[in-house]
Amino acid sequence: MPKRNMPEKNTIVYFNGKFMDKEKVCISPDDRGFLFADGLYEVIRSYRGTLFRAKEHLNRMGYGATHLKLGTTDFSELEEIARALLIKNNLESEDATLYFQVTRGAAKRSHPFPQPAPAPTIYAVASKFDPDPADKKRQNGIHIITTADTRWARCDMKTTALTPNILANQEAVEQGAQEAIFIRDGVMLEGSHSNFMAVFDNVLVTAPLSNYILGGITRKFILELCQQENIRVEERPIFEKDIHLATEMMIVGTTTEVTGIVGMNDILFREGKPGPFARKLQAAYVHAIESLKS
Ligand code: PDD
Repeated sequence: MPKRNMPEKNTIVYFNGKFMDKEKVCISPDDRGFLFADGLYEVIRSYRGTLFRAKEHLNRMGYGATHLKLGTTDFSELEEIARALLIKNNLESEDATLYFQVTRGAAKRSHPFPQPAPAPTIYAVASKFDPDPADKKRQNGIHIITTADTRWARCDMKTTALTPNILANQEAVEQGAQEAIFIRDGVMLEGSHSNFMAVFDNVLVTAPLSNYILGGITRKFILELCQQENIRVEERPIFEKDIHLATEMMIVGTTTEVTGIVGMNDILFREGKPGPFARKLQAAYVHAIESLKS
């Protein structure tokens, strides 16, 4: 048997209404998350005990659940559960991520929704987040590849069906890059786990919200920071054919925050250095997070 990446020990998680040892969690092989990826997830950042925009993340889960007709669509109680998990796992003064997952529950395999509807499966875990690797990427910038968007047409829902994202990211890693940007009909839409932005003529441009991208919480936050920093913004498609005119590119997301791009498809960009817009937004981001804590 190949060696497995072993999970952390002694982790207290939340599972279907109870806090318990992670090792005691028992998920049915009939769970529709396992069988069909019939579920949603969220990743929320906690900065030394303070959750960042938790309500927005949980509302997005509610939006996905409404469209998936999951039955349960109000996940606001998970915010309290997230705080409890930070306390139970001694993560109140550390950086951490909270992962949440909800599925349609366990029932005999059948394509239509099971009748009667099973209780949804709800899982949440807090993990220590080592900020150093992400900080290093932010300092040095990252390399990206572009790849055909083979995903479905409901990328606005954060479903656990991530096969195209995984394959795209793996392709990036195999090419020595850190993120893959999906291209559909010539448009650079978003990354495998981040949103994409570029600067043209001193205007920060990012794909408009649609069913083809995830409405990133960080994307929204960055657009607010742009307003505060007097950076002009346009939400319009970025065509791959025009990208050579960009003076900067960056990805934004919960774990990446704002990270400049310094190479694309093996071609060095900006002589390998993140640009001034990325730097300015990084500084504004750090400032906002610091004021959050005080
Ligand atoms: N990914 N686009 C995609 C496809 C994503 O998976 C993510 C987040 C984002 C950025 O969204 P936000 O700013 O709300 O994190 C955009 C998470 C972090 C993940 O899959 O781990």
